[in-house]
Amino acid sequence: MNDHYQCIGCNSRYETSEMMYTCAECSDLLEVKYDYEKIAPVIDTKLWRSRIFSAWRYRELLPISPETRIVSLGEGGTGLHRSEHLAEDLKVNTLSVKFEGENPTGSFKDRGMTVSISKAVEVHAKMVACASTGNTSASLAAYAARAGLRCIVIVPADKIAQGKLAQAIAHGAMILEIEGNFDDALRAVIELTERNRSIALLNSVNPFRIEGQKTLAFEVCDQMNFKPPDVLIVPVGNAGNISSIWKGFDELRRLGVIDKTPRLVGIQAEGASPIASAYKLKSATIQPVKNPETIATAIRIGAPASWKKALRAIAESGGAMETASDAEILQAQKELARREGIFVEPASASSIAGLRKLLEQGSIEKDEEIVCVATGHGLKDPEVVTKIGEKPTRTKSDRESIERVLGLR
Ligand code: F0G
Repeated sequence: MNDHYQCIGCNSRYETSEMMYTCAECSDLLEVKYDYEKIAPVIDTKLWRSRIFSAWRYRELLPISPETRIVSLGEGGTGLHRSEHLAEDLKVNTLSVKFEGENPTGSFKDRGMTVSISKAVEVHAKMVACASTGNTSASLAAYAARAGLRCIVIVPADKIAQGKLAQAIAHGAMILEIEGNFDDALRAVIELTERNRSIALLNSVNPFRIEGQKTLAFEVCDQMNFKPPDVLIVPVGNAGNISSIWKGFDELRRLGVIDKTPRLVGIQAEGASPIASAYKLKSATIQPVKNPETIATAIRIGAPASWKKALRAIAESGGAMETASDAEILQAQKELARREGIFVEPASASSIAGLRKLLEQGSIEKDEEIVCVATGHGLKDPEVVTKIGEKPTRTKSDRESIERVLGLR
């Protein structure tokens, strides 16, 4: 293989023959790098297009040996939906929504999981673990089941959405609910896997997760005939996804597949926005938020592990970070569902909520080509809607009663 790990802090290199998460020299995060000169001649967009539209269409840019059994449920290949009603409401020319709820377990996490679980199989792992606000645990539980691996998920007690918890239970994960938040859960799983090397860590500090998730950028380029959008907006929690997406665009540009990259804009929930704060203060480091709070439980994270990669993605792409309040997020969720037929969970709607703000500020222009990423399906968190949304109308079942309720008589 033409790949190796490289530390994002001190540039130390390591072989990818085993799972590594942090640099042995300086403890910073690692990323997978390729010998791009060697890969360039085998990159062929026509060949890609001869394969089915899925995350594995781009396998020359995925770090899995050809002999490895790929663990897949058919991830990626999600729709890029032109959203004309929302565009009209927001007074922009072209807006598309990349709907990651179409993935097998209902979120973008499956892109990262197919690659990282395949790698876990390649290195003969027997047990896998993650901390999660819900979607990662649902995805890991499913892929571990498919691979025949034991699965441990650590989640904040009473703080993850019901749909996600149901998925983890259904797939037979060992679920540990802890007192505390996601940040505490992540700390716990990192310690656990450091002390017990036989358990592979499958959070997005695992560089193979990032490799899988970068395929979202490849697909957006592919769906736009390799003319990328001007701006791509994505919800940010632990900050793995924005880092992945930037890596994807950056690689395609290095390889000459695209000639420009979009500005990446990350949106955090107001009550959990350490990266947006650092961006606004022009600070090179983040100040973790002790007690993050938001209705968007998926991104209720105060100490994002990949903050450094995220700030780099923003800087290199010429993008920005912004926040959205819970009220703005719920409004955007409602608009997306009612105006475009796309039902997303609250965290996912933050990209739309953020877009509205950026248009008001003038940092996105109305004639720019805009893509918003909607990261997860609305059915993941039905309670938000059934509790807060309009209630169904009770009626007797006879026609007259129904007509009365409908105002037809
Ligand atoms: N949207 C959804 C629906 C998510 O589940 C997450 C993260 C994000 C956005 C943010 O992505 O963390 O890469 O910046 N969920 C993680 C989890 C933390 O455990 O499921 P990120």
